[in-house]
Amino acid sequence: MKTSIKNICCIGAGYVGGPTMAVIADQCPEITINIVDVNEQRIKDWNDKDYSKLPVFEPGLENIIKRCRDRNLHFSTNVKTHISEADMVFISVNTPTKLNGVGAGEASDLKWVEACAREVAAYASGYTIVVEKSTLPVKTAEVIKTILNTSNHPSNSERGRCSFDILSNPEFLAEGTAISDLKYPERVLIGGENQQAIQALIDIYKRWVPTEKIISTNTWSSELSKLVANAFLAQRISSINSISALCEVTGADIKEVSSAIGFDSRIGKKFLNSGPGFGGSCFKKDILNLVYLSKQLGLQSVANYWEGVLEINKWQQHRISKIIIEKLFGTISSKKISILGFSFKANTNDTRESASISICKDLLNEGALLCIHDPKVNFSQVEKDLEDFPTSQDKIYASEEKKLNQGKWKFTKNMEEVFEGSDAVVVLTEWSQYSEIKWENVVSKMRAPAWVFDTRSILNSDSVINSGINYWRLGDGSNI
Ligand code: NAD
Ligand code: UGA
Repeated sequence: MKTSIKNICCIGAGYVGGPTMAVIADQCPEITINIVDVNEQRIKDWNDKDYSKLPVFEPGLENIIKRCRDRNLHFSTNVKTHISEADMVFISVNTPTKLNGVGAGEASDLKWVEACAREVAAYASGYTIVVEKSTLPVKTAEVIKTILNTSNHPSNSERGRCSFDILSNPEFLAEGTAISDLKYPERVLIGGENQQAIQALIDIYKRWVPTEKIISTNTWSSELSKLVANAFLAQRISSINSISALCEVTGADIKEVSSAIGFDSRIGKKFLNSGPGFGGSCFKKDILNLVYLSKQLGLQSVANYWEGVLEINKWQQHRISKIIIEKLFGTISSKKISILGFSFKANTNDTRESASISICKDLLNEGALLCIHDPKVNFSQVEKDLEDFPTSQDKIYASEEKKLNQGKWKFTKNMEEVFEGSDAVVVLTEWSQYSEIKWENVVSKMRAPAWVFDTRSILNSDSVINSGINYWRLGDGSNI
């Protein structure tokens, strides 16, 4: 029997749920999609008439929201109603690393996923396909299945018999390119046991994705592949970053080395840009997940191998902080250091695990006065990230807590302020506007001897050097 999906509910209106459902709604106008979230402000922002308030900034997203919102795409806090109406429920909630208890610091905290499973068990009616969109540890589908099949919610009898199938459909979009990644994915991965349920999801994607790009596997391969894909991508960045340090002491240039090795089609050109270390909400947490899984299964050497990827990432961030301090005569106390870029990469307002956070904290620790600029991140986000509240519990009391770094940093959207009296400018995010700075026009505003540190290799080095500013670029060994 063919299952045709007419109504979808997506739990979680975040960076994945919002854009993913927007693209499905755009491609399948006959399917009604309700995105639900417990965060009332987030839902309010998704429904705001002022599109600049959408909670996720992604090129191309605003136009899709304009086309689909209130047509077949709806944002709501009414979890119960929309689950009960749905033929298919996507779970797209956060799965951060656990902060406390067993597996703290490594395992994923699945409390939000479990809450979703319980909500689906409580409110679903008839046959419902539950799709794991969140990135999850291997075997999570088993947990969801157990909750769904053993739940004896009081309303069960009123709703008649409920039945469920569970699919794993991990998301591979990258922030900043989410809409094009969703419209033209390199692959769509669907893991599951029941062919009819798998086909129902294939039928949705095949509206715009060529069928040869839709892969189906067993559930565990699908769940594991997502973790492995992120681990491999992060591993490439740690590999090239480790070589950037080697370049700086040998006279080699990381840009030339990346380009030379990338010509080998077995290595490939992508993901070989050295930088201040990978950020984003997922690489670190997904590798930690893999590390935890390996340890649990007695595979300590496998765990050590992947832990190394994270160690290099942390080391690269501290290495950059140390270089800045060394170049500024070994002390940055009360010196103005301007930070260009706070998001974890360009074209997103997301700062989760951004290298800027760790490097700014290092510099603040050494007494620097920071002036931080980012075109998309806002002040309150920077404040949350820089003011130290050690545990999530403490974050609840953030407003009562002493702000450790208050007065030592400021945030500006005005580029003029960045250069005024600065001892150094540090480029940490590759926003294109930073590569257009006319250094000859700003040198007189900076305090001599001024420095520019380019950790993303995006500046025109001649323009910086010719203006008389000292210039350091990551992985450039030409000055030894
Ligand atoms: P997010 O934090 O931006 O959004 C998650 C949302 O879920 C939040 O708004 C939260 O309020 C909501 N939520 C949590 N529990 C809920 C519940 N019980 N009922 C209703 N709403 C609930 O997270 P995200 O970045 O969208 O990531 C979601 C998942 O997708 C994670 O597992 C992540 O690893 C994975 N992923 C993320 C990306 C990315 O680029 N951000 C890419 C691929 C996969
Ligand atoms: C990454 C993956 O690319 C997505 O496929 C995946 O779906 C997603 O994680 C996820 O699971 O969350 P994302 O974190 O949005 O996407 O961004 P990336 O483009 O992968 O960049 C991650 C970090 O690596 C950024 O800090 C970026 O600056 C850095 N990076 C990337 C480099 O330092 N060098 C590179 O060559 C590429």
